[in-house]
Amino acid sequence: MRGFGVVKMTAAALLCAGVVGGCGGKEDSAAAGSADDAMAEELWGELQGYESWGRFDNQSATPVLSDDHSGNYVVSYYDEALLGWALSGEAPDGGISVKEVYSAPDDTSPVALTVMKKVAGYDPEGGDWFWAWYAMDGTVQAAGAVSSCSGCHSAASTDFVFGE
Ligand code: HEC
Repeated sequence: MRGFGVVKMTAAALLCAGVVGGCGGKEDSAAAGSADDAMAEELWGELQGYESWGRFDNQSATPVLSDDHSGNYVVSYYDEALLGWALSGEAPDGGISVKEVYSAPDDTSPVALTVMKKVAGYDPEGGDWFWAWYAMDGTVQAAGAVSSCSGCHSAASTDFVFGE
């Protein structure tokens, strides 16, 4: 399986450069890190089937060049709670959004998933969003109150969610 290892490393290098503009690793203390890892594993289970979730009217169902996820192509999905919320005021507790990351617009499978989940009381400074970035086999690349994610998403007009 040597070939597979090489492919995985290439994908990881691509994502480090592309998804968040660098791989700083996990940002929290070891204790918070393991709690975050457990949450990330649970969230991976919760988001299965996300392909049948919806998106807002102005959004594309096929990969479009991201405004800000550094040269990647993306498709976003929102669960029922976030779709019902409709980008007005504070997002409902438990709402989840998944964004597929593609390396080229005509690729048929994503190379990573970036995910945000509203968890009341989790991180008031970051809008109480839990952030996670997964390889497609569910391996967690980053998870928790990831400041690079929340820092950029704080520019969104409604509660850290761009919806575009
Ligand atoms: C430099 C800015 C920036 C950074 C850093 C960033 N994002 Fe995003 N994100 C965006 C933008 C802009 C969108 C809207 C769609 C697009 O153009 O990519 C978005 C969309 C999303 C969405 C779809 C929900 C929405 O806001 O509509 C998710 C989920 C998401 N990002 C997760 C993450 C995670 C997880 C991280 C950290 C690993 C992260 N993002 C880091 C800018 C950023």
